[in-house]
Amino acid sequence: MRGKLVNRCGALALAVCLIGSTPLHARPAPPPSADAQAAALVAKMARDEKLTLVFGFFGTDFPPKSYKAPEDARPGSAGFVRGIPRLGIPPQWQTDAGIGVAAQGGAKVKPGRTALPSGLATAATWDPALGYAGGAMIGREARASGFNVMLAGGVNLTRDPRNGRNFEYGGEDPLLAGTMVGAQIAGIQSNRIISTIKHFAVNDQETDRDRGNSIIAEDALRTSDLLAFQFAFERSDPGSVMCAYNKVNGDHACENAFLLEQVLRKEWKWPGYVMSDWGATHSSAKAANAGLDQDSGFPFDSEPFFGQPLVRALDKGEVSEARLDKMAQRIVRTMIAKGLMAAPVKAGGTIDFAANRAVSRKDAEAGAVLLRNAGGVLPLGATVKRIAVIGGHADKGVLSGGGSSQVYPDGGNAVPGLQPTTWPGPVVYYPSAPLAELRKALPQVQIDFVDGSDPVAAAALARQADVALVFTNQWASESIDVSLTLPDNQDSLVEAVAAANARTVVVLQTGGPVLMPWAGKVSAILEAWYPGRVGGEAIANLLTGKVNPSGHLPVTFPQGLDQLPRSEAPYPGDVSYHEGAAVGYKWFDKRGFQPLYPFGHGLSYTTFRHSNLSVRKGAKGLVARVTVRNTGTRAGADVAQIYLEGSGWEAPRRLGGFVKVNLAPGQARTVEVPIDTRLFAVWDSGQWLVRPGKYRVVSAQSSREFGERVEVELTEKRIGPGLVPH
Ligand code: BGC
Repeated sequence: MRGKLVNRCGALALAVCLIGSTPLHARPAPPPSADAQAAALVAKMARDEKLTLVFGFFGTDFPPKSYKAPEDARPGSAGFVRGIPRLGIPPQWQTDAGIGVAAQGGAKVKPGRTALPSGLATAATWDPALGYAGGAMIGREARASGFNVMLAGGVNLTRDPRNGRNFEYGGEDPLLAGTMVGAQIAGIQSNRIISTIKHFAVNDQETDRDRGNSIIAEDALRTSDLLAFQFAFERSDPGSVMCAYNKVNGDHACENAFLLEQVLRKEWKWPGYVMSDWGATHSSAKAANAGLDQDSGFPFDSEPFFGQPLVRALDKGEVSEARLDKMAQRIVRTMIAKGLMAAPVKAGGTIDFAANRAVSRKDAEAGAVLLRNAGGVLPLGATVKRIAVIGGHADKGVLSGGGSSQVYPDGGNAVPGLQPTTWPGPVVYYPSAPLAELRKALPQVQIDFVDGSDPVAAAALARQADVALVFTNQWASESIDVSLTLPDNQDSLVEAVAAANARTVVVLQTGGPVLMPWAGKVSAILEAWYPGRVGGEAIANLLTGKVNPSGHLPVTFPQGLDQLPRSEAPYPGDVSYHEGAAVGYKWFDKRGFQPLYPFGHGLSYTTFRHSNLSVRKGAKGLVARVTVRNTGTRAGADVAQIYLEGSGWEAPRRLGGFVKVNLAPGQARTVEVPIDTRLFAVWDSGQWLVRPGKYRVVSAQSSREFGERVEVELTEKRIGPGLVPH
């Protein structure tokens, strides 16, 4: 007993600890662990009850398959798994996704919920605190809407800027994506619900996603896509993982023993449960034995694989009863561990829309990237008397990305009827019009609008204005990949306006990078991504200088398709990721290509200087220190970006760490940026290996704009493949 007390309190603190603590024998026994509680529950279950837990339904009626969702499913939702009332196990009510509580396109009921900006926009904030706040907000709305599982936390890397789902993810760098998406998942789970990291793994294009095989060497996979997942796991401990549609090196992701057993269980020792993507299960025995715990979204698989076919596989001994026990146990322990049993959800909770919009707006403001600002045309100054606003439905609202993650706004779609109106549509504009917001912000200025369908009329209006603002949009959606050329001749529109007015500003709302053949001909470019429910207000605040832009690119903007690892459009079937881990800026650095705008780039209305870089040894690895000074006249935020340079890597340079800093004019702050030692390493025979030798730690303002460098000498180090708690 005494010995135990010493251990608990630590020898030095013993006196204080003894005075302040209840004697151990008087304390109630600690509650059994989630694992022990789950094991006890599973021991009480009949086989049918266990099977109940491993089989998920689509939560919405689906007439093409004559399917009616279970009565207890939440209307319009993505998923539903029945509970076991006699054991106090609630149903799992599942909702998409990363920007808020989504509703299925065909659903009759589409409750209006608050949409964050796209995942890529949040990644562009480089601010994990904002990622967390956004996650906490949408998790709160999920709970208030009766959902206890969010299908949120997409961390597939931007291997190809044409992937139609890039907008849902965290960009091209494993550290940035893993940090930002991990923060979001942690925020969601702070509501005592489960969040689902996805799509595990290498689901990096939409074309032929159900059949395509992602072929990639293991060392490259470990240092790219899997590393992004690993960083996110370490920061959030997600309750569940969604395995992807595609094959990875020959096996479908949902029956891929390498991904699901070797990586998740043996190496990462992760205790949660794996659910399939909707229609991504292809077998019963193979999937169950490879590590799939829950088959989602009946009726989207070709057969209900974890329904009767699993019963037959159990009867034949192809799947053991012990394996079914394990599947049920993982699901129940996660429900317990994440709070679903102790804090049951109830639909019909109140939502503070005003507060939640403020969260979304801050995210949009911090994530928009000022790509160019020639001659200081922005922010719109007091000398501006007349503004022409052109195109992009700026008179109605802001664009959002399509597919299963679509959040329908309170207030309805601001531009209904655009094609496609059915899956993967509808195209949804949130009712937050930049035009109205600009008029509100600049009451003394004459602001006229034309829709941009006629470049001649647009140019005529632009000619009469002091500044022309052209809104150019690219809709992207799940299930299709995109072209990098802006649709509907918007390039010609920009060219025509820029020829008419030397002070032309382009506001982009895009899923990811686009080509801008006119970039050098316009004065300013603001990338607003999909800016969420109150994006119009955020855009107006940024253009007028009420808010100082501080977003930085989480993806490289290429000059042309010939700079990409695969210049041809994403094609059906197998994709060989020959670039390996040289994704995004790493590819550009390796090949010596000059991008249009590099990863990490982002301008401000003020200026910053980074100085006094030093590197010290911390408890967990190296820590860079750098002083960031606001050398301009406006308050603003900058990102201290730290890159590492080494040899024998996939590319000459890797992002090693980052910290966003808010600074008043003239203010300086010294920040510490911890560097994960694995970012110096290569993958070697099942471990991380830091080769002995010299490396450089570089202070930078983008992946192409460097400040000071410090050389460090490292000794050989091997690090196991497991999760390293953050
Ligand atoms: C998507 C998933 C989503 C699921 C449920 C699938 O089409 O790939 O990301 O969570 O549908 O709606």
